[in-house]
Amino acid sequence: MNIIKKTFLPFLFHLAILYPLLGQTKSEIPLVQELLQKMTLEEKIGQLNLLTPGGGVATGAVISQNVEEKIKAGQVGGLFGIAGPAKIRIVQELAIRQTRLKIPLLIGSDVIHGYKTTFPIPLGSSASWDMELLERAARMAAREATADGINWNFSPMVDIARDPRWGRIAEGAGEDPYLGSAIAAAMVRGYQGEDLSDSTTMMACVKHFALYGASQAGRDYHSVDMGRVKMFNQYLPPYKAAIDAGAASVMTSFNDVDGVPATGNRWLLTNLLRDTWGFQGFVVSDYTSVNEMVAHGLGNLQTVSALSLKAGLDMDMVGEGFLTTLKKSVDEGKVTEEEITRACLRILEAKYKLGLFEDPFRYLDDSRPKKDILTAEHRELAREIASRSFVLLKNHQDVLPLRKKGKIALVGPLADSRNNMLGTWAPTGNPNLAVTILEGLKKAAPNSSIGYAKGANITDDVELAKRVNVFGPRVVIDERTPEVLLKEAIDLAKQSDIVVAVVGEATEMSGEAASRTNLSLPKAQKKMIQALVETGKPIVLVLMSGRPLVISEEFELPVSILQVWHPGVEAGNAVADVLFGTYNPSGKLTATWPRTVGQIPIYHSVKHTGRPPATGEFKKFRSNYLDSPNTPLFPFGYGLSYTTFTYSDLHLDKTEIGPEESLIIGLTLTNTGDFDGEEVVQLYLRDMERSITPPVKQLKGFKKVSVPKGESVQVTLTLSPEDLKFYNGELQFVAEPGDFEVFVGTDSDSSLKASFVLKQ
Ligand code: BGC
Repeated sequence: MNIIKKTFLPFLFHLAILYPLLGQTKSEIPLVQELLQKMTLEEKIGQLNLLTPGGGVATGAVISQNVEEKIKAGQVGGLFGIAGPAKIRIVQELAIRQTRLKIPLLIGSDVIHGYKTTFPIPLGSSASWDMELLERAARMAAREATADGINWNFSPMVDIARDPRWGRIAEGAGEDPYLGSAIAAAMVRGYQGEDLSDSTTMMACVKHFALYGASQAGRDYHSVDMGRVKMFNQYLPPYKAAIDAGAASVMTSFNDVDGVPATGNRWLLTNLLRDTWGFQGFVVSDYTSVNEMVAHGLGNLQTVSALSLKAGLDMDMVGEGFLTTLKKSVDEGKVTEEEITRACLRILEAKYKLGLFEDPFRYLDDSRPKKDILTAEHRELAREIASRSFVLLKNHQDVLPLRKKGKIALVGPLADSRNNMLGTWAPTGNPNLAVTILEGLKKAAPNSSIGYAKGANITDDVELAKRVNVFGPRVVIDERTPEVLLKEAIDLAKQSDIVVAVVGEATEMSGEAASRTNLSLPKAQKKMIQALVETGKPIVLVLMSGRPLVISEEFELPVSILQVWHPGVEAGNAVADVLFGTYNPSGKLTATWPRTVGQIPIYHSVKHTGRPPATGEFKKFRSNYLDSPNTPLFPFGYGLSYTTFTYSDLHLDKTEIGPEESLIIGLTLTNTGDFDGEEVVQLYLRDMERSITPPVKQLKGFKKVSVPKGESVQVTLTLSPEDLKFYNGELQFVAEPGDFEVFVGTDSDSSLKASFVLKQ
C-alpha cells in the first residue's frame, strides 16, 4: 500500500496541479478563443500591461510614458487615471482602429468612496453597519463612474486593519472579519450589479490581496508576518467573501506573505485564490509592485516578472516589467507561452463580460455625465450615509442635540475648511463642491446666531504641514500668530451660549503613506480645547479623522464628542442634521479606539491569556500594563444615541443543537429615552473549549433596528452552523462540539449572555 502511495501520489498530485493550469489556456468563450489563436506572443504580452497616462494620483515613482504609441503598438491592455467619454473615446479609438486585432481597453479608476459625489471615507461608512445602504452607495458610485467612461473600479479595499497608526485604515471597514465580509460582499454587489455588461455597472477589484492591513508597526508598505491560522480566521475572510459575491478581479498587495511578496506569491495567487477558492477572474498587481520585488530582494526585473506571472499574476500595473521582459523569458525558457496565454485569456474574458467586444464605446455616452453625475439624488444619498456614519462618543450632560436658537460659537481649524471634507483617496471628487460645517450649520439654523473663529491651526508644525499638503493645501498655517487665533475663539466662546469645535486630522494625515506614531490631536488643537473648556461654556467637539485617534485626555474633559470621520461632499449638511437632531446618531465603531498608542494593536477578538488581568487593579505576573488599563477607550461596536436602549429577555430557541442546526436568539430591545432611534444589535460568540485557542469573543451577527421612543421591539438573530466554524490547526473549516456562550448588546463589551451546547 505504501509503495502504491509513494509511486502514484506524486503523479496524481502533479496532475491535479497541472490540469487546471493547462485547461486555463483555452477559453470557453468562442470569441476569446478565436482571438487568442490569432494573437502573437507580443500581442498577448501587450494585454497584460496596465498604464496610467497621468492625471490621476501617481502613487509610485513611475508615470507611464508614450502611452499613445504603446496603445497603437498593441502594448496596452488597460488604462487608469483617465476620465470622461470624450477623452476615453480617443484612447479607445486608438485601440480598436489602430491596432491589428482591435481589442478594446479596460478603463480603471480608484472610486473608493463615491465618484464625484464623494461619500464618507470607508471606515466612516462602515460605522453605519447598514448593508443595504452601502450596497446602494456602491451602486450609485458605479452609475456615476460609468457615466464618465470607467468600467473597472479598484475597490472594495477589504484589508482588515487593527493598527490605527496605519493611515490606510481609513479606506477599509475596520478590524472585524465578519462585518468586513458582509461589507465586502455588499460593495461588490453594488458595483457589479446583476450584469457586468450593463453600462451602469463596473467591474470590482478586491484589494489588496493579501494581509496589507497587517503591515508591521503600522508603517505603510512594510513587511507582514502572520501564521496561517490567524490569516485564515481573521484576515482572509473578507477577500473570500468578495470573491464569493462574484468580484471579477483582484489586486495584489505590496507586502510579503510568508516571505514572498504577494505579487509573486504562488501559494496566494494560485493555490489559495484559484485552486481553493475557485476564483475565475484576473489578478492585477498594485502600482509597480512587480518592480518593487527587486527592492524586496527577489532578483532583477526579468526574474521577478517571470516569478509573478508563474505565481498567477495576470496584469502588471504601470511598472512594465511584463512588457519589457516576458518575451525574453520565453526565449530563454524561463516562462512558457502557455503561461502568458493563460493571463491574457483572463483579461480578454473580463473585457468580454463587460461587453466591450460587442461595443467598445458602450460606456461612452456623452449625454450621461450631465444626467448621472452629482445629481440631487446622489448628493442626498451622500448626506444620508454621512449622517449614518457619525459615532456619538460622549454626550456630556445631554447637551446634544442642539436647539436651533441662541448664539453658537463655531470654532476650530476644520470648521470652515472645504479642502478637508472629502477625506483621503478621493481623487475623482472635487473639494470645491463640499459643504463646510459653517455653511451646513448656518443653513440648518437660520435663526441662530452662528459666529466663526478658526481658533488654531490644524498643526503649527511646518514640516508636517508640508508632508500633508502633497495634493493641495490641507493644513494652512495662518498668517496670524497662534495667540491671536486662540484669543479670537475664546472671545467668541465667551459671548456665546454653546461652543461647537471642529477639530482633528486634515484629510491627508491619514490614507496611503500617511502612517503616524502619535495619534493624539496636534498640540495647537489640544491647547485650544483646553482654553475653551476654561470658559465654562458647554462644548461639543466635532471630531474628524481617518482613523481611531487617541483622545483619552479630551474624553476626561466636560465636553461632548461626535466622531464624523471625513464626511464627504455633504459634510456640513450631514453634521448639521446630527447636531440639531434631525437624525439621531446610530453609528458604531468598526475599529477599537485605544487609550494610548502603546496598546496597539488592539481589537475586540483577542485571545484569552493564561494569566488574565485582575479586575480593576494591577497585579504582578498578570497580563497587564504598569501604566495603563488593558481596556480600550472605546470598544469595537461602541456608539451612543440621543436616546437610550435596554436589552432584556435574551432567550435561545434551544439549549442544545446538532452540527447541521441553526440557533435562533431572541431578545427585547426597548427605547427608554426621549427620541426615536436606531440601534445596531450585536451578537458575539464565545467558544468555551476547542483545539486552537479561541478568541474571547467574536462578532457573529448584527441587526440594525429602528425603535420609536418608549416602545419595545422583539429582535431575532440566527447563528448558522457555519458561524460556529473556524479554521483549525490543519486549516480545516470545522465546528468542534462543546459549550458556547452568546452575548448580545450595544457593543463588544456587552455582558448579557446565554449558553448552549453543540452536540456531536
Ligand atoms: C494603491 C492602490 C491603488 C493604486 C492605483 C496604489 O498606490 O495602493 O490602492 O488602487 O495605487 O491608483
